[in-house]
Amino acid sequence: MSQIETRHSFRSEIVPGERIFLSHPLREDLPLLARWYADLELTLYLGRAGHAYTPEDEEQWFNNRNRDGVRSFAIIVRETNAIIGSVSLMKLDAQNGRAELGISIGEKTAWGKGYGGEAVRLMCAYGFTFLNLHMIYLWHVGYNERGHRAYLRAGFKEAGRLREARVFDGQRYDDVLMDITRADFGPTGLARMIGQINREEREEREGRTD
Ligand SMILES: CC(C)(COP(=O)(O)OP(=O)(O)OC[C@H]1O[C@@H](n2cnc3c(N)ncnc32)[C@H](O)[C@@H]1OP(=O)(O)O)[C@@H](O)C(=O)NCCC(=O)NCCS
Repeated sequence: MSQIETRHSFRSEIVPGERIFLSHPLREDLPLLARWYADLELTLYLGRAGHAYTPEDEEQWFNNRNRDGVRSFAIIVRETNAIIGSVSLMKLDAQNGRAELGISIGEKTAWGKGYGGEAVRLMCAYGFTFLNLHMIYLWHVGYNERGHRAYLRAGFKEAGRLREARVFDGQRYDDVLMDITRADFGPTGLARMIGQINREEREEREGRTD
């Protein structure tokens, strides 16, 4: 049986989505994360060819997940309550209102099902609504076609390339930079979580006149 079917810990729903929500990673998730991040296929997509992270690396990531300049959430599938990966905003730059997004779905059976695209949308919505970000960017390796398509669908645009900046198994690939602005993203919907703010605007949108 896969991990998706077997994990049922209580998870606070911090950023709600449709099929997933963003929550806190839990210390009890660490052995699973350690297994995921020791996988050479996963770390290849993360741009760390040949690297297998250790349980100590995961412990360190967990302890630093909300240090200055970083916000990290676990990605939880609503139907099963299972963690499938994590998404982060890093290098938070309050002066310029920008941050770098990183995402990793460690549970390979969950790849290509639309969860990554939705998690990126939720993290951007959080950043634009609550962190006052103006733009968010990300880097991916040129052979990460799945990621590229997921980010395009989430509203990112290609912003540039470091050509042939990376080598794997004797072949060279670009590093690809993508970005999204708050205007590109449109209304995040998250302000609606807060009862009194934007009430008039919300009622107007919902067609209420009383
Ligand atoms: C990259 C990642 C976050 C994308 O999330 P995901 O849930 O797998 O992606 P989605 O299902 O939302 O979207 C995948 C897109 O790629 C397409 N796709 C799926 N499998 C593919 C494959 N093997 N090759 C190319 N495209 C593929 C899908 O059709 C979809 O595109 P579409 O919306 O145009 O149809 C996730 O796969 C992941 O974490 N991978 C491993 C680590 C990683 O790459 N992290 C990102 C580093 S920048």
